[in-house]
Amino acid sequence: MESLVGSRSSLPSVRKSITTRKTALVCLENSSNMAGGTVYPTARVDEICDRAHALGLKVHLDGARIFNAATSLGDHVANMTKKLTP
Ligand SMILES: Cc1ncc(COP(=O)(O)O)c(C=O)c1O
Repeated sequence: MESLVGSRSSLPSVRKSITTRKTALVCLENSSNMAGGTVYPTARVDEICDRAHALGLKVHLDGARIFNAATSLGDHVANMTKKLTP
């Protein structure tokens, strides 16, 4: 793989290699750090999982702050994560 550092000319080929890779995994983070600590409602996570699984994609949850999200939602982690790929 070509380096991205210090070489603008390599970008098109790197971009091409990225865009031709087949997507296999959807990653969620709940709560979401880069979205200001916002929380995915459980129904939204369920919908994302259903749609991803229908496309043959796995779904991973980074749950570093899942208990914060559970407290915010007043929900249980088991319910919030029931549709994630085992
Ligand atoms: C969203 C998220 N994922 C994962 C981690 C764990 O990070 P590390 O593997 O560096 O301990 C953290 C740590 O704060 C985090 O905020």
